[in-house]
Amino acid sequence: MAEISVDGRTFEVADGKRLVLALADNDVDVLHLCGGNARCTTCRVEFSDGEPAAMTVAESAVLEKRELKGKARLSCQIECHGSMAVQPVMRLSNTEFDAPGDRPADSITPEPEWL
Ligand code: FES
Repeated sequence: MAEISVDGRTFEVADGKRLVLALADNDVDVLHLCGGNARCTTCRVEFSDGEPAAMTVAESAVLEKRELKGKARLSCQIECHGSMAVQPVMRLSNTEFDAPGDRPADSITPEPEWL
């Protein structure tokens, strides 16, 4: 099991679960407008603990393009392992979007290539 801390609470999720789904399935207000495909960056989170060193090529490319590298990570491109403490940056409640986005697939998309 992995342990996720967010919004002042901690919960356990299956090891390897996509972080965006770990958050959404535990009623954390997090956006995922592109459906978890490393395009929109609305699923981005800031880590205060447990940031993984591994990064997908797709995440790296979009963070670079949006000048977010080193500032945030894409929860749709991260698998839960160990203890992680995160804070979603964009939320349905602090944006003008009507819905969080389509549910991302259970596995990371696009097919991950790891840096
Ligand atoms: S980049 Fe769109 S959901 Fe992660």
